[in-house]
Amino acid sequence: MRSFKLVVLLLGTVALAQGAKAPAAKAPAKAPAEAKAPAAAATDAGAARAAGGAAKLDGAKLFQDRTCWACHGKDAKTPILPNYPRLAGQNAAYAEQQIRDIKSGARSNGQTAAMKGVMVIVADDEIPALAQYISTLKP
Ligand code: HEC
Repeated sequence: MRSFKLVVLLLGTVALAQGAKAPAAKAPAKAPAEAKAPAAAATDAGAARAAGGAAKLDGAKLFQDRTCWACHGKDAKTPILPNYPRLAGQNAAYAEQQIRDIKSGARSNGQTAAMKGVMVIVADDEIPALAQYISTLKP
């Protein structure tokens, strides 16, 4: 649940920043602030990591921190709904492409909307590490 707090924190920060820029426009400023939040949050995630240097990305940790487990299961093969995919043992290149496509919107199936929301906290350069991790799990 730590990541949810992180998202709330990031969104709160963005909202504050927006508020500081336009203190006069109170209520109307809210909607645009929310609309801008995902992009800003993603940028913040990237900036935070860039500041941390070239630390090697840990796919297992990312799978937890980015809340992937919440839908796909802690073992990546016990999804919360039967029509959510099992990921364990999936080909890394395939998984990477699917994650990218879900993030970009190129893949937009009936269920992708569920996952797309969480992709605002996943930076592009974290995707290979996540895909790699998934591929190492026993199906
Ligand atoms: C809110 C629920 C949810 C969360 C959180 C979530 N996913 Fe998903 N994920 C889905 C759903 C639903 C699908 C299937 C989408 C579809 O039907 O097109 C999916 C699809 C995928 C696929 C493609 C599987 C395939 O066989 O094509 C991969 C890979 C994946 N998710 C990885 C991840 C990773 C890594 C994370 C964490 C960054 C994550 N997901 C977080 C719900 C979620």
